[in-house]
Amino acid sequence: MRFDIITIFPGLFDSVFTAGVVKKAVEKGILEIRIHDLRKYATDKHQQVDDRPYGGAEGMVLKPEPIFRAVEDIRQTGKSITCLLTPQGEMFNSRLAEELASYDQVVLICGRYEGVDERVIEHLVDREISIGDYVLTGGELAAAVVVDAVSRFVPGVVGKEESVRHDSFTTGLLDFPQYTRPREFRGYRVPAVLFSGDHKKIARWRLKKALEKTLARRPDLLESRKLTPEEEELLEEIKKERKES
Ligand code: ADE
Repeated sequence: MRFDIITIFPGLFDSVFTAGVVKKAVEKGILEIRIHDLRKYATDKHQQVDDRPYGGAEGMVLKPEPIFRAVEDIRQTGKSITCLLTPQGEMFNSRLAEELASYDQVVLICGRYEGVDERVIEHLVDREISIGDYVLTGGELAAAVVVDAVSRFVPGVVGKEESVRHDSFTTGLLDFPQYTRPREFRGYRVPAVLFSGDHKKIARWRLKKALEKTLARRPDLLESRKLTPEEEELLEEIKKERKES
């Protein structure tokens, strides 16, 4: 799987992919990440990539020609998709990450300034993606987020594929709490159930904790999820306990 990032600040990516599982996957040849300087695709001698908006407004708009040239040069045959990172895009989530992981190539265009010439969006880009309801100074950090999250769905990137399957958002629940040694730290104790050796009991406790956290923080996730009978039962228990306290 290959990512191609088109940006006017290639230096921003110098260190993002140089650690952890993404770096390892690149070394193993499972992933390829290429950073492309948009200015190299400028058509004039000043390497101009932006210009003032027609109709007058604040700021600058990224010109269409360099972006079209860049994408047309970079795009490979095979299953390829071109995405623009912009706060106007559809919301990025785990489902979209998994879908993008099925492509051979994902081209990510980092938006900047007041925006990108609309003809890029209408005639070149397949999808516009936002990573959240806030405005970043540009699409670069968003592109890094997309590469990281999509990579986790590429087979072989995350050590045990189990850990992706059991993720929050893949399971539709937030994670249960995790503890490690020491058993007691500054008087704070690890819940006793985790030492019980009773795997069924531990699994039920974890499921209950995950449901509790999801109900408190992301009730929307529960609404869009079909609950198992055990989950229904635990949820009733949680709601009853809430009323009592
Ligand atoms: N560019 C600026 N803000 C953004 C956001 N929230 N998501 C994606 N790209 C962006």
